[in-house]
Parts: sequence; structure tokens; C-alpha cells
Amino acid sequence: MPTINVLLPGDASADRSYEIRIGSGVVGEIGAAIARRSGSRAVVISDAAVSAHAAAVTASLTGAGIDTTAVAVPSGEASKSLAVAGRLWAALAAQAVDRQTHVIAVGGGVVGDLAGFIAATFARGLPVWQVPTTLVAQVDSAIGGKTGINLEAGKNLVGCFWQPCGVFADIGTLATLPDREFTSGLAEVVKYGMILDAEFFAWLEGHAAALVARDPQALVYAVERSAALKAHVVSADEREQTGLRAVLNYGHTFAHAFETAAGYGTLLHGEAVSIGMVCAARLAEQLGRIGSDIVARQDALLAACQLPRSIPSLTASTDDLLAIMARDKKSIGGRLRFILPDRIGHVELVADIDPGLVATVITQQVAGPG
Ligand SMILES: NC(=O)c1ccc[n+]([C@@H]2O[C@H](COP(=O)([O-])OP(=O)(O)OC[C@H]3O[C@@H](n4cnc5c(N)ncnc54)[C@H](O)[C@@H]3O)[C@@H](O)[C@H]2O)c1
Ligand SMILES: [Zn+2]
Repeated sequence: MPTINVLLPGDASADRSYEIRIGSGVVGEIGAAIARRSGSRAVVISDAAVSAHAAAVTASLTGAGIDTTAVAVPSGEASKSLAVAGRLWAALAAQAVDRQTHVIAVGGGVVGDLAGFIAATFARGLPVWQVPTTLVAQVDSAIGGKTGINLEAGKNLVGCFWQPCGVFADIGTLATLPDREFTSGLAEVVKYGMILDAEFFAWLEGHAAALVARDPQALVYAVERSAALKAHVVSADEREQTGLRAVLNYGHTFAHAFETAAGYGTLLHGEAVSIGMVCAARLAEQLGRIGSDIVARQDALLAACQLPRSIPSLTASTDDLLAIMARDKKSIGGRLRFILPDRIGHVELVADIDPGLVATVITQQVAGPG
């Protein structure tokens, strides 16, 4: 079964590097892994939609002699809130959880971010393990240690970096994932090919149909390659300080504006990222950074993955979208900056982009095909 190492500099007390195990049935290994770290107690945090997967994790833990309790939160983004965090802190306190208790996050990015944040903050920090059950979580959110909750004022505004002790990406858990959630995750997979790995991009072109059909072998390779690329970026720029981690935001400045303008939940994140990558590639073409051949290859791959490439309708004006983008954390002083490709497998941060050009690219994607 593939194993990816996330290499991180150690601190005085421990080596912080960890493994990502990928494959069908890897959840069965988690009990033994925690027992090897002398864990004797565990709390499994999951959401209501993944109770069967949480039960499999609990069985592995109890089978390894670990005293395990379970807490479930409602599924959906609304659980990444201070109110739900408060309930979880209270539940841990009621169980007299101490620093030797391991937290296991079983679910998508919502549970991973929330449970990671709870682990980071309760009793000044508990060890956390990630068991991602969505494609987005397996290729992205479970790796890299970003945790957090949302405020009324915006997404992910409160949180911290808190690296897991290990990640178990069980491809078997994806079988119960609704089609739209699954497809949405493929956008992030295509993103890794575009930003870092031309060979992987070409492999995706040859295996899009197998991925859409959730062929297990194709899925294991796609998750393995994506996880390895994310792990590489995280190892090189753990806390987003050198700028390398910013390449992961390819398509995302557009995507966040579409998500905000459409109202959260109308477009799934991956769907917005797909349209955002289409816009970013066209912007790069307009700037003379890539040719139409690359734009066409990306379009074709997104289409083969059954991802949307245009916005059905826009509730906001392009001026509103530009204003949202100017507030994006990638923009400095309101000047637009984008991660743009200069070839397949390579991107750069490009500053001072003409807002008029950005508006044109967006307008074309509202009216465009797809
Ligand atoms: N920490 C990071 O680096 C990072 C990166 C990307 C995204 N995120 C965060 O991740 C969240 C999005 O993650 P997501 O797309 O996984 O959403 P999610 O966690 O809301 O999961 C999507 C839906 O699928 C359900 N679900 C999960 N696994 C399932 C399964 N195996 N079978 C059936 N249903 C299942 C969930 O209950 C939910 O309704 C956002 O909050 C985003 O901010 C974080
Ligand atoms: Zn994303």
C-alpha cells in the first residue's frame, strides 16, 4: 500500500514528520499505529454522514486495546463554528480528556479542520490523526496541518497550524460519497497536475474516465500522486512563509469570488475551482504566458472529469467580483495577483494584473460553453 512521508523539521521534543497511508482498508491499521505511540485513550470525532466509517475506526482502536469514545457533529460547513467547537470542548472536559488522549478526525474537510482545531486547542494540544473520507480531504485538507473554524465575518478566520501524527486515506470510504462531492474533489487533483507535475497531468488525461468511474486502482494512484505533491509543498513551506505554498491557490482567487458571489453552498468548492482554473488559464493566455493549446488541454481534462467550466449565472457584477478579489489574501494593497501557468506543471505568482483583463475573462466564462 502506498505510503507518503510528510517531512517536517523536528522540535526539541520530537520528530514531527508523519506518514500518509493510502489504499483500501487502511483504516484498519489505525489502532496499531496509535498503540505504537503508547496511546491508550482516543476520541473519534466524525459527522453524521460517515457513521459507518467512524465505526470501522472505533473497531480498529478498541481492537488494539485503546479506550475509545465517539462524538458526532452535524454534517456540513455550519459545523465549523465556535458554537460546535464549544460543545466539543465541553464534551472532552466532561470525559476528563488529558494530553495522552488521541483525537481522530473521521470525515471530510469540515470534520478535519474542526477536529484538528479542537485537538490543537484543548488542554494546550492533543495528538490528532486524520482519516479523510472525501476526495477533497484525501488529496488536500487532511495534509498540511491547517485547522480552523469560520466566523460570520469569513471562512477559516480562527485557527492554527497543528500537524497530524498520521493520515489514513482509505479509498474504500469514497464509495459512499455522493457523485457531486466526488467530482468536485477531482478539480483539486487536476490542479496538482497543472501546478507541479506535467507527467501526472498527462496520466490524468489518460485515466479521467477510470477516475470518474471510481476505479480503485486509478483512485489510489491519483490520491497518492496528489498527496505526495501536497506533502512536498507543505514540507518546503509549512507555514506559508516562503511563497511556495501559494501555488496551491491556482484558480482559487477566482473560485473564492465565485463562491462568495453565488452564496456559499450554491457552487461546491471544487466546482468553483474548476471554473477558476479555466479563468486563470485564459488570463495567462491573454497575457501571452501560455498558448491556446494548453488552455484547450486543461478544458478537455476538466470536461472529461465532468467538472463545470462556466458559471451558469452571476448574481454579482464583474465589478463586485473584482472587489472581492482585491480583498483576497493573495492580493496586496488591493492590487490583483494571480497564480498563473507558464506551462503544464508550472505556475508563477503574477502581480499587478489589469482588472479590465480579469473582467473580460470572467465575462467570457459566464457566457461561454460548458
Ligand atoms: N485544511 C486545509 O488545508 C483545507 C484545504 C481544503 C479545504 N479545507 C476545508 O475543507 C472543507 C471542505 O471539505 P469537504 O469538501 O471534504 O466537505 P465536507 O467535509 O463538508 O464533506 C462534504 C459532504 O460529504 C459528506 N461526506 C463526507 N465523507 C463522506 C463519505 N465517505 N460518504 C458519504 N458522505 C460523506 C459530509 O457529511 C458532507 O455533507 C471546507 O471547510 C474547507 O475550508 C481545508
Ligand atoms: Zn481548494
